[in-house]
Amino acid sequence: MPDDQNDDPMKGKRRSSEWYGKADKDGFAHRSWMKNQGLPGDLFDGRPVIGICNTWSEFNPCNAHFRDLAERVKRGVYEAGGMPLEFPVFSNSESQLRPTAMLYRNLASMDVEESIRGLPMDGVILLTGCDKTTPALLMGAASCDLPTLVVSGGPMLNGHYKGEQIGSGTHVWKFSEAVRAGEMTLQDFMEAETANSRSAGHCMTMGTASTMASMAESLGIALPTNAAIPAVDSRRYSLAQFAGRRIVELVRKNVRLSDIMTKAAFENAIIVNGAIGGSTNAVVHLLAMAGRVGVDISLDDWDRLGREVPCLVNLMPSGKYLMEDFYYAGGLPVVIRELEHLLNKDAMTVSGQSIWENSKDAECYNRDVIYPLDKPFKPNGGIAVITGNLAPNGAILKPSAASPELMTHRGRAVVFEDIEDYRDRIDDPDLDVDETCVMVLKYCGPKGYPGMAEVGNMGLPAKILKKGITDMVRVSDARMSGTAYGTVVLHVAPEAATGGPLALVQNGDMVELDIPNRRLHLDVADDELERRRGELKPFVSPHERGYSRIYVEHVNQADKGADLDFLVGKGGTPVLRESH
Ligand code: FES
Repeated sequence: MPDDQNDDPMKGKRRSSEWYGKADKDGFAHRSWMKNQGLPGDLFDGRPVIGICNTWSEFNPCNAHFRDLAERVKRGVYEAGGMPLEFPVFSNSESQLRPTAMLYRNLASMDVEESIRGLPMDGVILLTGCDKTTPALLMGAASCDLPTLVVSGGPMLNGHYKGEQIGSGTHVWKFSEAVRAGEMTLQDFMEAETANSRSAGHCMTMGTASTMASMAESLGIALPTNAAIPAVDSRRYSLAQFAGRRIVELVRKNVRLSDIMTKAAFENAIIVNGAIGGSTNAVVHLLAMAGRVGVDISLDDWDRLGREVPCLVNLMPSGKYLMEDFYYAGGLPVVIRELEHLLNKDAMTVSGQSIWENSKDAECYNRDVIYPLDKPFKPNGGIAVITGNLAPNGAILKPSAASPELMTHRGRAVVFEDIEDYRDRIDDPDLDVDETCVMVLKYCGPKGYPGMAEVGNMGLPAKILKKGITDMVRVSDARMSGTAYGTVVLHVAPEAATGGPLALVQNGDMVELDIPNRRLHLDVADDELERRRGELKPFVSPHERGYSRIYVEHVNQADKGADLDFLVGKGGTPVLRESH
């Protein structure tokens, strides 16, 4: 491998040279049509071709600034002697796409994988932002395993409303519950809309988008500070340009995604997720990403590695600040520095340095935003993985977003058979529920919804909210938004639609949650559960055509990352046949 980018023995022998390096009919076709864009002939001289995988879409407002970002990446690629070529892929829009953007994460990953494999590129920059775009692009890229670098779009500026800092998602839940409790007028609620989304960028709470950007940085597949720079900050554009330079060097040195996203890197990411109070969605996404690159990570690793990690970051939904504050306080490198003794310090990153070398000199500028390890913001940061007869293959809960007094709880089940049943009855004055009950929601898992929607943090009944109660234990096979909070047991596996025990719960059953002992128990005799199983009608999905049908037939359960079974693993980038 060359150490100096001017010493480039691979020139002319790269993957892209199989398209552009031939003096025959095929080479003519590949080059000639590209030249209709005005590309000079010397760009086809064997220099690294860098694909810029763009999730720009006006239907995905979190990523709507990505054409500008791509231009900055291109500058960097040209400066380093490469040829940048931008290509579009499916853009999962968390705020616009129905029934849930998660349904299409795997579809987007297929688009990415096939685009990278079928097109003449030597390395790829992934432009990611809105929640599912980060895992989708990393899953697809991992299955190809070229040199890869993530550039995130960055969070929106902080929301401000009537003198209060408000956060994406977190205040949607807060305000909508305040309206239902009669504490906020509908007019004030509507006015808060614009105040909530003030600039380009993705959700600025430590929701799933910010979490996944932090996961990319802690995996080492993004450059230091990538996670937190606001979308509209000039330094976001400098970072994109620098990333363009770096990817050319990674191609010259043949540093592949699998050289960076190793088991050690995944362990680091899980630990960092605990320290940032990251989204529960990171669990299912990292499991899927690890599956693609061939790294053995399980739910047990999440509990084992995260159990002792305290939450250091005072950001919504677990705390009070937002991503802009996080960046000004020093950002993720400060968190990584605090975690020195917990991390695999030698894990290599796309910067060319180890994760520790990237972060060892990071300074914290606001200790009310990023706390030190020996005086953390909250003692429990990691993800609690729970098992028991109600979740034989596991379920998860985020302790930092839960109520300490509910971490051990026994309550009467109030069951909603599906999301429509929940919506129809939740505010019924005759609903037999009080704050000691456990709300149970079925058929919202990967197959059941389909796509495992973010409905697990079901809002409390209005009559409970009016008493001033803001949390109850909730259990489902769904996910919840990374911006949400509460004592919410999620990702119950196996899900109700596959006949998991969740399908057998009935109103009045007693449910026991014991987070210290990682236990979720349905207090019903085994023979009674067997009787109910005999009466259970098989789940029939109404999705009979297209991608949704493929998804329902092939999706894995949450404890395996909810990837499609035939996409797990990697196929590399060989393409055996020419196109003409
Ligand atoms: Fe796109 Fe939250 S809606 S990141």
